[in-house]
Amino acid sequence: MNLAELHKVALAMVAPGKGILAADESTGTIKKRFEAIGVESTADSRRDYRELLFRSTEAMKNHISGVILFDETIRQTARDGTPLTKVITAAGAIPGIKVDKGTRPLALSPGEVITEGLDGLRERLIEYRGLGAKFAKWRAVIDIAPGIPTPNSVTANMHALARYAALCQEEDIVPIVEPEVLMDGDHDTDRCYQVTEWVLKTLYQELDVARVELEGTVLKPNMVVPGKKCAKRATVEEVAEKTVRVLKACVPSAIPGIAFLSGGQSDEEATAHLDAMNRIKGLPWKVTFSYGRALQAAPQKAWSGKAENVAAAQRAFAHRARMNGLATLGQWKRELEKKAA
Ligand code: 13P
Repeated sequence: MNLAELHKVALAMVAPGKGILAADESTGTIKKRFEAIGVESTADSRRDYRELLFRSTEAMKNHISGVILFDETIRQTARDGTPLTKVITAAGAIPGIKVDKGTRPLALSPGEVITEGLDGLRERLIEYRGLGAKFAKWRAVIDIAPGIPTPNSVTANMHALARYAALCQEEDIVPIVEPEVLMDGDHDTDRCYQVTEWVLKTLYQELDVARVELEGTVLKPNMVVPGKKCAKRATVEEVAEKTVRVLKACVPSAIPGIAFLSGGQSDEEATAHLDAMNRIKGLPWKVTFSYGRALQAAPQKAWSGKAENVAAAQRAFAHRARMNGLATLGQWKRELEKKAA
């Protein structure tokens, strides 16, 4: 393992003013996103859409440190034949790759899932490295419901994350370690806090046992938010304060940075929460974004599959990237959103 190189890449992924574009939707998920905008999902339409994002030069150069790709995309070329990974590196961003194979029901744990994809992972990592990936992503999913999560699901999912992270580091690929506590339920903010704490403490125990070098990793967690169906909403300050509190209690300062998922928050909420966290003094790690939906909902809507909308879609993407870039510095203001609208 070349730890110095891993550390350098991890630091670049969380560079101030920048964050990660999660464009690694599986074929099934991107089909759903395209259905919502009336676009047929084909290899070409997926390529055209992602190419327009990666060619948004201003957004990519100034505010995007890295891009998480899906297996299909890392092998695709742009319309002019340039590999999409080259388009990304030419814009100054780092290509990464989703390597988990999604979730399946966890045996004997009704309502819970386990992320699969460890079999053959070493060989796939070697291939992805050859295709230009410098970091990888694995997402574990923890749901909250009555009696859920169980110790079985927390332990099994964090153990899998640790095995994935160790394999990545052996192949000189920075693992993004993503333990996502879902916001789908009717639970309140404190319940989210409690489960997030349990999950993160288990994760860092498992990473330690697996001998993962924390300096060469990036954490991608959820924020501490109430479930979507919870009547009691939380203020921006409450989300920021509770999220920072649980992270400080569980996440070693050795990690270079934390890049949040958006998880179903609105575009503006995801930005406001990130901004409020970065206004808190003395954070021991860099705190940035690794958003999928909160960066792409606006450009997808603006594009709607039409070539004549490409420029408008790129403007929408550039706007969200700039807002989130400002939020990594604690310099975002709500008025900037209004002005753009
Ligand atoms: P969202 O920001 O849409 O949650 O996606 C981030 C991601 O990569 C989930 O694995």
